[in-house]
Amino acid sequence: MKAVICKKYGSPEVLKLMEVEKPSPKDNEVCVKIHATAVTNSDIFIRSSKLPFPIIIPFRLMIGFFKPRKSIIGLVFSGEIESIGENTKRFKPGDKVYGLTGFNLGTYAEYMCMKENDSKKGSISFKPDNISHEEATMVAYGGILAFQYLEKGKIEKGQKVLIYGASGTTGTIAVQIAKQLGAEVTGVCSTSNLEMVKKLGADFVMDYTKQNEIPEGVNYDFMLDAVGKAKTSKLKKAGKKALSPKAKYISIDDGDLKLDSERLNEIKEYVESGYIKPVLDKCYKLEEIVEAHRYVEKGHKKGGVAITVI
Ligand SMILES: NC(=O)c1ccc[n+]([C@@H]2O[C@H](COP(=O)([O-])OP(=O)(O)OC[C@H]3O[C@@H](n4cnc5c(N)ncnc54)[C@H](OP(=O)(O)O)[C@@H]3O)[C@@H](O)[C@H]2O)c1
Repeated sequence: MKAVICKKYGSPEVLKLMEVEKPSPKDNEVCVKIHATAVTNSDIFIRSSKLPFPIIIPFRLMIGFFKPRKSIIGLVFSGEIESIGENTKRFKPGDKVYGLTGFNLGTYAEYMCMKENDSKKGSISFKPDNISHEEATMVAYGGILAFQYLEKGKIEKGQKVLIYGASGTTGTIAVQIAKQLGAEVTGVCSTSNLEMVKKLGADFVMDYTKQNEIPEGVNYDFMLDAVGKAKTSKLKKAGKKALSPKAKYISIDDGDLKLDSERLNEIKEYVESGYIKPVLDKCYKLEEIVEAHRYVEKGHKKGGVAITVI
């Protein structure tokens, strides 16, 4: 099968498309024929290993100290069940599935095997029927992150919620979920994304490249930093200061991503009911993986970037 191999940390050029042996599922595993994967910000960290000290230490312990322990990287997938292990129960060949493999990686390939039940090595569930495989990779990654971190805000109807970084994979989905929960949503992004964030349902938008302060008298009940601590601005700091006394500030970088197939089912329902619409910026072929990494690494993708595999 074709797979993208990453044998050392470095620039996008370390990624090489190669022929490798197709994996077979163990008794408790399923083999997924991958139709699409995504280039996420997490993939950029894994490939480049460019992280500040001391975060780099636990990160490298997890994914490989001197080189990636798993040479096939990638952590999001959408595809179909190709074959199943003897002791599996949830899926049959031909089922359309999507999910994440976490630090087990392996999705930059035509086939990937994983446990059918949730573990630190991934979660798999039935894919939403009304979107493409490429779009499904957006809602898997952005949806899992957005739900997990919005939940920490315990949002109530009518509350004022500030989504910082509303134009990324997670931000675009967080805006839509917060609206569904009945919040009054303000999305922060740059000029070229203001219209898109409004269309996703934000009641108000603010441009972090032009505005440094929150309007006088405005306070928020919850602020989600949906792009992580490395991306900041004067407006982000002002947003934190504009929180009400009992309000919470949550960064998407605090805590670990929880892989959960129940959550994937919940996301499927939201997508099929039309409450979440994926935002797909660009789509590349597996052969164009280097170009896709170069693009995502610039840090300005709108929604997500997918890779069509088979
Ligand atoms: N806790 C965990 O386990 C875990 C797991 C995975 C990921 N994460 C975190 O989640 C983050 C989110 O990833 P993502 O893929 O959803 O985001 P993303 O799509 O990479 O975010 C890209 C967006 O960020 C915006 N942006 C760039 N600089 C900005 C700034 N200074 N202020 C505001 N917005 C800015 C860009 O918009 P403009 O072009 O308009 O600037 C672009 O639309 C990751 O970077 C990582 O830190 C956490």
